[in-house]
Amino acid sequence: MTDHIRTELNDGVLSVTFARPDKKNAITQAMYAALSEATERARTDDAVRVLLFKAEGDSFSAGNDIADFIAIGSAKDDPFDMSVFRFLKALADMDKPMVAAVRGRAVGIGLTLLLHCDMVVVAEDALLSAPFVNLALAPEAASTLLLPQVLGHQRAFEIFALGEPINGATALAWGLANRAVAAADVEAEAQALAERLAQRAPNSIRKTKRLMRDAEALWARMQREGEAFGSQMKSAEAMEAFMAFSQKRAPDFSKNG
Ligand code: COA
Repeated sequence: MTDHIRTELNDGVLSVTFARPDKKNAITQAMYAALSEATERARTDDAVRVLLFKAEGDSFSAGNDIADFIAIGSAKDDPFDMSVFRFLKALADMDKPMVAAVRGRAVGIGLTLLLHCDMVVVAEDALLSAPFVNLALAPEAASTLLLPQVLGHQRAFEIFALGEPINGATALAWGLANRAVAAADVEAEAQALAERLAQRAPNSIRKTKRLMRDAEALWARMQREGEAFGSQMKSAEAMEAFMAFSQKRAPDFSKNG
């Protein structure tokens, strides 16, 4: 159980709120477990028509908790046992609409989660990034498949390899978002879209979504990515990157080969 994920069901919209604002909503294993439960529930509970992701504080999510990376990277456990994989499977299988309300930073899975959402509202000044290579890791959540599909290879590669953020206006222009609005309006806009979707014919919308996505291909890609991610997570170059983050310094990969 964690207090860092809050869920609330209203008129068919299950809101899932990242509630760890002091850590920029970085996601711990306990939070992934709660996210998995909420996403699985959204798919199987007839009372849920739409899943809405939103966040407390000034950031959507700073991505995976880096202290967790350090703990898991030094443990002998199989990284596939991590709760994150249960959440990724739930995302691949999800056939009801998902909406996201994104303000501030959306880093790592904070961005790649958006590739599974059907409607995304961003703040014009939001900053979206996928700095997996900065951390000497590999991309996840089938983003190596989905991000190039949306952006083309070169833009997607730059986002992964250089790790620099794009703002909400660019995300809209590049097709990653449906709406870019003032930060103060993001939640209301996303809530209104979720409520509209919740009123649509439920089986029609599910079949439409299922036809638009290949859940098996997504899960297959997530597993391939997981192998690269898992071996990188236990690598010397990743440990250097995690230590550099916790010591608030730039990583030095000159000795890694
Ligand atoms: N894991 C663990 N803690 C994190 C975190 C993460 N991914 N992201 C932020 N935090 C923590 C910081 O360590 C800091 O904790 P402290 O107050 O105890 O020192 C707190 O959240 C606030 O973060 P801070 O870096 O001071 O905020 P900022 O506004 O200057 O920068 C970010 C925000 C998101 C740009 C920056 O925190 C960051 O780059 N985080 C790492 C993102 C990342 O690489 N995620 C993994 C992707 S795979």
